[in-house]
Amino acid sequence: MENSGPDGWLTGVRFEEAPQVDLRTDRAHPARVYDYLLGGKTNFPVDREVGDRILGEWPGSRAATVEARAVMHRMVRRLVEVHGVRQFLDVGTGIPTTPNLHEVVQAVDPSCRVVYVDNDPIVLAHSRALLTSTPEGRTAYVEGDLREPGRFLADPAVAATLDLDRPIALTLINIVHFLSDEAAHPPVRTLVDALPSGSFLALTAGTADSIPDLVAIGSRRYSEAGIENHLRPRAGVERFFAGLELDDLGVVLINRWHPELGEGPVLGDHEVAAYAGLGRKP
Ligand SMILES: C[S@@+](CC[C@H](N)C(=O)[O-])C[C@H]1O[C@@H](n2cnc3c(N)ncnc32)[C@H](O)[C@@H]1O
Repeated sequence: MENSGPDGWLTGVRFEEAPQVDLRTDRAHPARVYDYLLGGKTNFPVDREVGDRILGEWPGSRAATVEARAVMHRMVRRLVEVHGVRQFLDVGTGIPTTPNLHEVVQAVDPSCRVVYVDNDPIVLAHSRALLTSTPEGRTAYVEGDLREPGRFLADPAVAATLDLDRPIALTLINIVHFLSDEAAHPPVRTLVDALPSGSFLALTAGTADSIPDLVAIGSRRYSEAGIENHLRPRAGVERFFAGLELDDLGVVLINRWHPELGEGPVLGDHEVAAYAGLGRKP
């Protein structure tokens, strides 16, 4: 078997038995538009059309998107190096883009374990790339929807990969802005409640606070393409951390989340469109 993940789990079935997926190339998908804005190649004309419209009106959206991904690298590396976390539940994984989350954390400690969850068939189609774990660690891919946490938590691949009695970092990176407050808060609470004490929530979410006019254009283009999106002010993002201990930074624009840990250029407040926060479950 090509993937070196120890069990070859994929959405509860062996990888070889994975169903054929409908890529729905007739409509734009958030994961593929994001991939295009990141400079990736896993996208179709319908996705590039949305991306090109956004880039035409907001040329800085590519740099803002690259930073939206880069902050994930900084957050998960710090979770391993400073907070001692070795297990990750990443919901809204996106199309594989090197380095993926497991590659970042396993570069620090090869024993790290990661479960990836996404509801987009194109991510499923490329999920083999998410299963190239170190021999010491583990990775699994589970097809699932953030709005139905009970379903994916019950997937045997989760228990086979993560020890639910030891701290886990729940990473929700660039996903909650596709859901309203009413849709997002209950499942996030369910997930946090399911994690043991000492676990973390690492979350980033889109905002129009920093560059309202340009972000409004981007948001409109997504909506026109049928992609629901909900931007939040800082207080709206802070609500996700209710009951958790936010780290000393609190919820800040992503460019301000430990930029010293990154390798790329440090962007200004008027070049990014998302907040980041890291909270610990007491
Ligand atoms: C913008 S991408 C972010 C990818 C990755 N987390 C990152 O930051 O690089 C958002 C991802 O969330 C997924 N997504 C959106 N809504 C979802 C939901 N309700 N349940 C699971 N995944 C969802 C999309 O399919 C897409 O892959």
